[in-house]
Amino acid sequence: MSAASGGNRKKVTTHRLSEMKLRGEKISMLTAYDFTMARIVDMAGVDVILVGDSASNVMAGNETTLPITLDQMIYHGSSVVKAVNMALVVVDMPFGSYQGNSKEALSSAIRIMKETHADAVKLEGGREIIESVERILSAGIPVMGHLGLMPQSIHKFGTYTVRAKDTSEADKLIEDARLLERVGCFAIVLEKIPSQLAKRVAEEVNIPIIGIGAGGGVDGQVLVLHDMLGITHEFSPRFLRRYHNLFAEMKGAVESYVTDVKSGDFPNEKESY
Ligand code: KIV
Repeated sequence: MSAASGGNRKKVTTHRLSEMKLRGEKISMLTAYDFTMARIVDMAGVDVILVGDSASNVMAGNETTLPITLDQMIYHGSSVVKAVNMALVVVDMPFGSYQGNSKEALSSAIRIMKETHADAVKLEGGREIIESVERILSAGIPVMGHLGLMPQSIHKFGTYTVRAKDTSEADKLIEDARLLERVGCFAIVLEKIPSQLAKRVAEEVNIPIIGIGAGGGVDGQVLVLHDMLGITHEFSPRFLRRYHNLFAEMKGAVESYVTDVKSGDFPNEKESY
């Protein structure tokens, strides 16, 4: 029996993730934004489902993650949670819902938890948002951090290239990771940074480090579902492994349907009342 189909799987908790790190068992994480996909991902045995603000790109067609609203994230989050039995569900706090002040951050996090029934929230940033992180944690809401390439800060970075290649940015990232651990975050996502740096962070902090474009020396991996399934086909960063070309398969199926309707082949007698 595969890990994915394991008969006695139990609901994944933040505690279980830290046990997995201790045991050296890698953590699998994927995004999902809707009920149907979340059901497939959960049944396939993924440990953590991230309702990422990448929904802004993948679901809504925006160029960046900035436009997605708290209401829209709540809509995606509650659709996903209804489908999930096993995975830990984490909802991204969208741009503008936590950077202003910690009180606003807490009320945004409370709305996410109350209205989606998710297990945790994720925020981008280190020292600059630490008051918000602490206030959310003090309300009993588990927080996942996110460092390295932070897409909500794309206008500050100016590009989606690899972050923390120079020593000062790398030092700040290590300090931020230690700080997020110290205040009580249960895990951190590291996006698009050199693998040696990511490995060092994973060795120096005791909470799980989940990488995307951060090499194999971390405690787990995350990818955007639509990218790894090959439903999106224009985005091809080096870190992305495509497990399928669903874009071509889905397009082919739709083309066959159009042909069948035009030719009168669909519906046939068996498909009619
Ligand atoms: O929004 C998202 O999909 C993410 C992952 C890339 C980690 O934050």
